[in-house]
Amino acid sequence: MKLRNLLVTLAASAVTVISASALAQAPIVIKFSHVVTADTPKGQAADKFKELAEKYTKGRVKVEVYPNSTLYKDKEEMEALQLGAVQMLAPALSKFGPLGVKEFEVFDIPYIFPFKYVLNKVTEGPIGKGLLKKLEPKGITGLAFWDNGFKVMSANKPLIHPADFKGLKMRIMSSKVLDDQMRVLGANPQVMAFSEVYQGLQTGVVDGTENPPSNLYTQKMYEVQSDVTMSNHGYLGYAVIVNKKFWDGLPADIRTELDKAMTEATAFEKIAAERDNDMAMAAVRKSGKTKVHELTDAEQAEWRKALMPVQDHMASRIGKDLIQAIKNESRPGAK
Ligand code: LMR
Repeated sequence: MKLRNLLVTLAASAVTVISASALAQAPIVIKFSHVVTADTPKGQAADKFKELAEKYTKGRVKVEVYPNSTLYKDKEEMEALQLGAVQMLAPALSKFGPLGVKEFEVFDIPYIFPFKYVLNKVTEGPIGKGLLKKLEPKGITGLAFWDNGFKVMSANKPLIHPADFKGLKMRIMSSKVLDDQMRVLGANPQVMAFSEVYQGLQTGVVDGTENPPSNLYTQKMYEVQSDVTMSNHGYLGYAVIVNKKFWDGLPADIRTELDKAMTEATAFEKIAAERDNDMAMAAVRKSGKTKVHELTDAEQAEWRKALMPVQDHMASRIGKDLIQAIKNESRPGAK
């Protein structure tokens, strides 16, 4: 009987050792969900992060990328991150208002970034760091800002003058600044998940929308919009975010390697955003499926005048100091 007990004990401890070592080898899984196609700047950067994270951690981390709303759509993804059902997202900066971090909507204010270098100073400097810090009380850690350039407007009629927007149902992201932007133009803003926009435009649920060219192109929205206006009236960027509990729970050396992968993926993404938005607009023009309108200086001035009130309307929501701090970055001689 003693020999039998000994054999059973040895067998049990052998199983424990194997399962422990098997557990020790099991990779840490990061589910990275996003709502755009894999061939957009954000989609390519997510794949680049996967490649570098798995390389630098020597396989101790496995990144599973779920593009184009295949895992979660707009509204669901933020909830899933906070619950820990997904570990990483890169939502548009316009989508943090419902989370209670209204300051991120400062990026939606029309014409607040007169040049791209001003935007880069904001996202790469103390203002950007301060904004990411505001996510922590929500159980979220902000890792980086990714770029997708300036937006164009589209509809099934030419949008040349602000008055052309009157009565149009215009799709927007869930941002009070974008809501006000469309209202001051006389349009009716409709919040809609990104994955539903093509069908919304195709069926007439909405008449038009705004996007960087890479989104207009990769979602084939130009096929169901007769007119596109090169307005560049507003900016679209992203915050790459992780579940804070998950991130803080990682071994320090793994976090260091993931930070390195994120830094390199961010540099990669900025180049892709510049390149791919230009390429997308060229492809839209070449398709001949939509008429592309350039605004004259006088027309641009009309748009700026019409959209200027948005900044004042939203100052109490976003914070006058934050708006001023960003405008100070544009002043000549600002460091
Ligand atoms: C949108 O909903 O229009 C954007 O957030 C899509 C994107 O680029 O993430």
